Amino acid sequence: MRALVCESFGPVENLKVIEQSLPALKPNEVRLQVHAAGVNFPDALMVQGKYQVRPELPFIPGGECAGVIAEVGEEVKGFKAGDKVIAMPGLSAFAEQVNVDHKLLMPMPEGVSFAEAAGFCITYATSYYAFKQRAKLQEGETLVVLGAAGGVGVTAIQLGKLMGARVIACASSAEKLEFCREVGADEVINYTEEDLKERIRELTDGRGADVIYDPVGGDFTEQAYRAIAWGGRYLVIGFAAGDIPRLPLNLPLLKAGDILGIYWGGWAARDPKGNMQNFSELLNFVTKGRLKPMTTEVFSLAEFQSAFAAIRERRALGKVILSLEES
Ligand SMILES: NC(=O)c1ccc[n+]([C@@H]2O[C@H](COP(=O)([O-])OP(=O)(O)OC[C@H]3O[C@@H](n4cnc5c(N)ncnc54)[C@H](OP(=O)(O)O)[C@@H]3O)[C@@H](O)[C@H]2O)c1
Repeated sequence: MRALVCESFGPVENLKVIEQSLPALKPNEVRLQVHAAGVNFPDALMVQGKYQVRPELPFIPGGECAGVIAEVGEEVKGFKAGDKVIAMPGLSAFAEQVNVDHKLLMPMPEGVSFAEAAGFCITYATSYYAFKQRAKLQEGETLVVLGAAGGVGVTAIQLGKLMGARVIACASSAEKLEFCREVGADEVINYTEEDLKERIRELTDGRGADVIYDPVGGDFTEQAYRAIAWGGRYLVIGFAAGDIPRLPLNLPLLKAGDILGIYWGGWAARDPKGNMQNFSELLNFVTKGRLKPMTTEVFSLAEFQSAFAAIRERRALGKVILSLEES
């Protein structure tokens, strides 16, 4: 099988598409024929050795995928060869085949393509955990989403709307903001041209935002926090801008504000039942037509550099996918 392999930590350009054999199937695993895999911001950090998880070398990156089960181990229950599934192997998804523990599988909903299903796990699970377990987002609250046209940002718009919030999407270009409106945002702010703090205050009649979802960091964090409502919740999702911001602690004091760290993978490992319950609710939203997984850009395995460049160069709209379908 062909796989994208990281032989040493370094730039994504050093990754190689090479022929590899798959390890023997364990009794608790299925062998999956991968059709598509989701590309996430942390994948690029991981191959550079800059992520909180540093896999043993060599390794195949890729945390999530969708495909068809080719073979099942003898202890596997609930799945059979031929089933279409979504998988969260954590690693090794950027390959034509992957062995996955059956506990990390979900049935693929009807009416969803492999590309849409491949990007479903990490971003939707992160935003849902952030809103449900951490912020306890309530109907009628105002939610501000930074980096709203990016991978996790789009899911925050969709789930925020689904949970009844008024969503203000913030991004860096008119094209991205138009995309955010199409996804469902009620209001938009171009934070490279407008004053983020002032615009949030204006759009909330001076009250401020109840919940702020921040996957970007850098200078935007303090500006956004200064426009949080009394008793607001600030969700620390990530630092796509590169800089980890520092916040004067008088700000949360003055607003009775919470700063909530979000580490979905860490929570999922500690509470696998809660995580699977969240997935089951997310899949239910999809099945009932209340949530449509969004995929806008699909690249072949050979085009992996373009896939990573779309994210790095801040061009990606929504989720970036690698297709493993053609040879
Ligand atoms: N906490 C968790 O459990 C968890 C889970 C998944 C992801 N994350 C983190 O969330 C962050 C975003 O992930 P993502 O998948 O949404 O990434 P993404 O698709 O690349 O989106 C990130 C957004 O950040 C903005 N941005 C600002 N400065 C940037 C820069 N220098 N380079 C790239 N983007 C920049 C861009 O929007 P504008 O151009 O509009 O500013 C971009 O759309 C990452 O730090 C990731 O590690 C955290």
